[in-house]
Amino acid sequence: MATRGRTPGPNLRRISGFRGQRAGWDAAETVRSMTGVSIEEMIGCGMGQSTLQELRQKDRAYHIHPFTNHVEMHRGGTHWIKSGDGCHLIDEQDRRLLDGLAGLWCVNVGYNCAAIVEAVHAQMEELPYYPSFFNSTTEPPVLLAEWLANHAPARLNKVIYSNSGSEANETALKIIRAYWKLRGKSHKRKVLSREFAYHGVTLAATSLTGLPNCTEPFDLPLENFIHVPAPYAWAARTALSPAAFGADVIARTAEIIDREGPETIAAMFVEPIQGAGGVIIPPPGYLAALRGLCRERDILFVADEVITAFGRLGVWFASEREQLDPDILNVAKGLTSGYLPLGATLVSDEIVEVIHSGGYFAHGYTYTGHPVCTAAALANLRVIESLGLVDRVRDDVGPYFQSKLAGLASHPAVGEVRGDGLIGAAELVPRGGRDALRPGMMLGLKAADNIREEGSIVRGIRDLIALAPPLIITHGEIDELFDSARRGLDRLWN
Ligand SMILES: Cc1ncc(COP(=O)(O)O)c(C=O)c1O
Repeated sequence: MATRGRTPGPNLRRISGFRGQRAGWDAAETVRSMTGVSIEEMIGCGMGQSTLQELRQKDRAYHIHPFTNHVEMHRGGTHWIKSGDGCHLIDEQDRRLLDGLAGLWCVNVGYNCAAIVEAVHAQMEELPYYPSFFNSTTEPPVLLAEWLANHAPARLNKVIYSNSGSEANETALKIIRAYWKLRGKSHKRKVLSREFAYHGVTLAATSLTGLPNCTEPFDLPLENFIHVPAPYAWAARTALSPAAFGADVIARTAEIIDREGPETIAAMFVEPIQGAGGVIIPPPGYLAALRGLCRERDILFVADEVITAFGRLGVWFASEREQLDPDILNVAKGLTSGYLPLGATLVSDEIVEVIHSGGYFAHGYTYTGHPVCTAAALANLRVIESLGLVDRVRDDVGPYFQSKLAGLASHPAVGEVRGDGLIGAAELVPRGGRDALRPGMMLGLKAADNIREEGSIVRGIRDLIALAPPLIITHGEIDELFDSARRGLDRLWN
């Protein structure tokens, strides 16, 4: 079965219509005269020429997938996604799947946002790349920095870009080290984060991550990365009230800080809601107390809002709603709705002042402030603003999604549900109840497979499923998502 026709699809035809006319240069003609192939063939790079079976063979032969068990994947066969349409994806068998995870918690405006495509196209024509190194820059990163500074919590008025959430965290870590060094406190080197945290995959970001399946294969964390307890009531099997449990976690965190010595601790990294670790919703009072603890002990507070920023919780930034007043705030994912890779580290005025006083700032990636990626982000943010998606999540689809999630709690395979805005999770239990849960059961992964067969994509994590659909989702699509979740759980149960 061919995954695509042999003629270029509409997008490819439109792109191949590009001419560098302003420079008096015909790209198509140049390619044809130099190589003897048409620009359509060159852009296609063979795409649309392979059967699904051939693609599977090539995938097996050449492609290492991220976060994948390759033996299992090749046994079952890779699932091919061909195209996207709003909240839906079209797969190899032309099945329409509702994407209940927005790609990887990121495609907030859905899959066919013409405004982003047009902005990218226009910027590609205008100037596809120029760095912001040394004393140069281009227009989109500056305008995006202005937008971010105007919308972010009060003290965060400067922005440095990267290509991902991991790199945003990595950048924050380097800024923090430089900051304390410039302040004559190089002994502040330890960094705190929480169990079940997910902060990315570079060596340092993995070290921040509090998930053994991410750290153990690489003998991480590195020295000086310390994990404190997460406010994960379900996993703790606590009998305490949510507020008392939160206070208990804070007390245990304070003990660790005092044991390590606050004067040796540089910063604490905190996801306002721990996403990939299992959608852990902090109990009332916990985040404020954690912030207070860091302030008291002179520990910088870094909000990792890679998932929570840009509307998923019905606010632009969770830090604003929770009054976290972070010293640094990291974003990625929803910044471009995943259309192009981009991360950003928003830094407080005080830290920037110290860093600037150090003179030459020797950090940055080739693609820091990439004009096309930042143009995509600007278009994405304007779309979110003009469609009023943030308020829509807060007042309309968020509450509706949460009511449907609460309804899922009545399913016998569900032990607990929890969520906020357009993010949620259901902890699953086997027949026999929670006490019959055994390590390795991986009910979440099995349920996610079933739910995909029933027409929707959710994320399976250990024994839970996580949901975070695009912000453009409608009530009807939320019904569709939970109907397939319920059918998938029925199959797990029966
Ligand atoms: C909170 C958080 N931080 C950082 C990251 C890493 O981002 P990336 O995969 O873009 O490196 C993720 C990715 O899921 C995340 O959820």
